[in-house]
Amino acid sequence: MAFTPRVFSGIQPSGTLHLGNYLGAIKRFVPLQQQYPCLYCVVDMHAITVWQEPDALRHATREVAAAYVAAGVDPKAHIVYNQSRVIQHAELAWIFNCVARMGWMSRMTQWKDKTAGKNAEAESLGLFAYPSLMAADILLYKATHVPVGEDQKQHLELTRDIAQKFNNDFGPSIREQGLDPEFFPLTEPVIAGPATRVMSLRDGSKKMSKSDPSDQSRILLTDEPDAIAKKIKRATTDPEALPSEVEGLKGRPEADNLVGIYAALSDTTKDDVLKQFGGQGWGAFKPALADLAVAKLEPIASEMRRLMADPASIDAFMADGAERASEIAEATMKDVRRIVGFVR
Ligand code: TRP
Repeated sequence: MAFTPRVFSGIQPSGTLHLGNYLGAIKRFVPLQQQYPCLYCVVDMHAITVWQEPDALRHATREVAAAYVAAGVDPKAHIVYNQSRVIQHAELAWIFNCVARMGWMSRMTQWKDKTAGKNAEAESLGLFAYPSLMAADILLYKATHVPVGEDQKQHLELTRDIAQKFNNDFGPSIREQGLDPEFFPLTEPVIAGPATRVMSLRDGSKKMSKSDPSDQSRILLTDEPDAIAKKIKRATTDPEALPSEVEGLKGRPEADNLVGIYAALSDTTKDDVLKQFGGQGWGAFKPALADLAVAKLEPIASEMRRLMADPASIDAFMADGAERASEIAEATMKDVRRIVGFVR
């Protein structure tokens, strides 16, 4: 059966949003609205898999929702909400906890990286089960397209494994209920464009991250224009001029990163950027990049500030989004409960 196309994606409200979140996710959410019905979720239940101060969680939840809207997501035409308001996420995640295998979870590279050389025994059970909640987010809405960064590809594979195992294990029951045997879709990631992976401004081999100890390594969506310009001008580079072709960026991770950021911000390709700047030095390129970044980010930052000044308005569109999300989620759960054999 062909599933109705639907987009789902989510960002965790933990820490402050940076350029990596914007170029790798939020910016790419916007054009999808023209093609598909979209759900953009603030995944607060994922955030608490590691400790969050309750006040900080509330603030960050509203900030992510504000960023979606400031960047151009329409919360009326589509759905913007925070995960914990739609309790079916937790309900389906529990069922998926009983479908997914311990071995699948232990093989997740994100889990392995997070616990490498550390005491895995001290991590929360929720952190281990994180990917099964993510599968529930997506499959609750039978989403067919999920825009995510490279680092989330494995979680999407796991989502497909869970969908497939559910469809197989419960095959006879699904048929008995008169439902389509391919009950859950096998969801595809949507990974595209330059700078889907934005690197640290200090070290081109590391991802731009909220947990990097250096403030100079990342540009925040809420940074003032002069802070953005300073961070770009101080970004680590090599002594060479920019190459004229993409080939020449090989082995130059910092140059590759800054050119990728320029391309993503200006909606062009690295090729086009190098056609314009090839042969020029950093003294020319960095100020141009700083101007571009300020021009693109400042309108978003100021709209975020405007929205954050009235948190009740953010809560209102999230409540409205959650109500519409719940309708879709509950329709799925009605079937799932019957399929599994829960008596109602
Ligand atoms: N795991 C994703 C991240 O850290 C966030 C996320 C949670 C998500 N649920 C999702 C992304 C569902 C896409 C779809 O980036």
